[in-house]
Amino acid sequence: MNPYDYATSQRDRFVEQLRAFLQFPSISTLAEHNGDVVRTAEWLAEHLRSIGMERVEIVPTAGHPVVYAAWLSAPSGAPTLLFYGHYDVQPIDPLDQWVTPPFQPTVRDDKIYARGATDDKGQVLLVINAIESWLAVRGMLPCNVVLVIEGEEEIGSPNLSSFLHQRRQDLACDAVLVCDTAMFAPGIPSLVYGLRGLAYLEVHVRGPRRDLHSGSYGGAVVNPANALARIIAALHDDRGAIAIPGFYDDVRSLDAEERHLLASLPFDEEAFCQELDLDTLGGEDGYTTLERLGARPTLDVNGMWSGFTGTGAKTVLPAEAHAKISMRLVPDQRPDRIAQIVAEYITRIAPRAVRIQVDMLHGADPVLVERDSMPMKAAARALEVTFGRKPVYQREGGSIPVVAEFQRLFRVPVVLMGFGLHTDGAHSPNEHFHLENFHRGTSAVIRFFEELARGQ
Ligand code: BES
Ligand code: MN
Ligand code: MN
Repeated sequence: MNPYDYATSQRDRFVEQLRAFLQFPSISTLAEHNGDVVRTAEWLAEHLRSIGMERVEIVPTAGHPVVYAAWLSAPSGAPTLLFYGHYDVQPIDPLDQWVTPPFQPTVRDDKIYARGATDDKGQVLLVINAIESWLAVRGMLPCNVVLVIEGEEEIGSPNLSSFLHQRRQDLACDAVLVCDTAMFAPGIPSLVYGLRGLAYLEVHVRGPRRDLHSGSYGGAVVNPANALARIIAALHDDRGAIAIPGFYDDVRSLDAEERHLLASLPFDEEAFCQELDLDTLGGEDGYTTLERLGARPTLDVNGMWSGFTGTGAKTVLPAEAHAKISMRLVPDQRPDRIAQIVAEYITRIAPRAVRIQVDMLHGADPVLVERDSMPMKAAARALEVTFGRKPVYQREGGSIPVVAEFQRLFRVPVVLMGFGLHTDGAHSPNEHFHLENFHRGTSAVIRFFEELARGQ
């Protein structure tokens, strides 16, 4: 038997294991789940031991633990691959929109529904399945593997950098693999060569010392909610561009070759709209949808709250107003600098009658990876054999904070090869993972190990 047949023969068991992994509510941002996060790490470590990883550790950090595992007995001269993924998940609200409970994994129509199914537990497990398939059949892998599976990606990986520095010797590698992105479309595998970065701010606008009767005071006291609305409206211009001076200073512009590459992707804008129940899209003038999504920076309000939001009417002038605002960044923008200029601008344009406080919650550096590195070519061959067509190369609009750090620290090629779909509902209700992609992903990674070891 070869590893591919082994994986096929184990499909039902792999799905049962995924179910077990998905049952843990490892929500990294909610302190009441800290114990669940640790139990998830313990389950994962135990599973890695059971498939024959030589060295498995649960490494404590100042936050949630990192699961580290290594198998380093490949033939001499074989490369070492570092795989990165995350076992933490996003919160589950709005709970009432889930058809089945988020931590009771359920299979419907060949998809498994649960929080974390596609982001990122399903994708982590398929890599582990691929390792298991080699070890079970051959007793070895064609390359060495080191796994770093963290529990804080969804909160911006605040402690991963110190883990990477401390354990640098244990992480020596020739390439990095990350399976935490999406395919271009069903049946169309993709290699992601760009990720956007992030700068996440919270803005607080404060006015009078208490909520006021809007009849007795309205018109003479500046309303913090009105002020916040004006501030937010001033952050974009009429052409959909961000109106903050200096915001675009470090943005690398798209060259003709890349615009051509993105324009040649089989993107179906109508289907994209339809799936979202939208008549039309909107964004920065002068750019296509795929350029806007992957290669241009953005500024979005993620949430805002102020005053009375219950049913009915209350005539009140709220004492404060708040917003969470994040910017997606592209090379060579830096999260700290962007946060600073945005905070300064907001403070400058606010009416004098209100007080402004801006806090930075977290950030992530944008990345671009080489499209024709040896590991990228190996991944392209693995995907082509598995899916029966060549992968497309695309930029992704989301962020994975640690990827830029891998590039800086190890100076090795990074491969972003994911098996999710954008419609899988990551961070949304009814998150799911197509079992077809779970199994194909397993095969693709089995082959990637071989192709990487072959080199070229
Ligand atoms: N897996 C995603 C990154 C991603 C998003 C890949 C969309 C492909 C498509 C990752 O888990 C994630 O959600 N990242 C956060 C980063 C943040 C919390 C620092 C993001 O992009 O919002
Ligand atoms: Mn993820
Ligand atoms: Mn995520």
